[in-house]
Amino acid sequence: MAESCTNALLSDDEVKVIQSIWSSVMKDANTHGMNFFLKFFRENPTFQERFASLRNLKTEEEMKASKRLKAHAASVFHAITALVDNLDDLECVSDMLEKIAANHLRRKVNWPFFDRIALCIVAFLSETLGTQIMDSKATTAWTKVLNVITETVKRVEVEQLETQSASS
Ligand code: HEM
Repeated sequence: MAESCTNALLSDDEVKVIQSIWSSVMKDANTHGMNFFLKFFRENPTFQERFASLRNLKTEEEMKASKRLKAHAASVFHAITALVDNLDDLECVSDMLEKIAANHLRRKVNWPFFDRIALCIVAFLSETLGTQIMDSKATTAWTKVLNVITETVKRVEVEQLETQSASS
């Protein structure tokens, strides 16, 4: 992690807050990852359809027992770790996000899905860590980062549409 961060989006303090919150979540990544996806699917039941390997899970008990969901939650949380660890290098973050965006657009997961997951992540962090840790400063900082994710997906989606219409 760089000592001083020249990040136009976030202050050094905001980067520290985000990294400290995420490192406490990752101390128990499996539990938090599973709880997060239970919440995400409870609040957005139709989204489960997007996951070919999770579509057949009907109840929360089945989800909790699913190795596929556990593995999926771990990949998503580790992807967030990679983003959070590199907040001092926006070019690197942008590169990672473009790959995430392209992989998800291929699966027809576009920006409104990311908008929903962003809201869910902020709410999950508040419920899990409490509003003393996830205070207004932390909430603002997380919201900024999550907006960058959604905005990147939006940009990549527009670029793909422009490329398609230019070649047709
Ligand atoms: C913070 C936002 C997100 C991150 C960091 C993230 C990250 C990832 C990663 C690392 C993978 C595995 C690698 C790959 O196959 O591309 C993945 C797979 C996937 N993601 Fe996401 N994701 C995010 C949001 C979403 C949202 C909002 C949806 C849809 C509601 C979604 C749907 C999927 C699906 C369907 C897969 C494939 C799962 C499978 O292998 O069965 N993701 N995601």
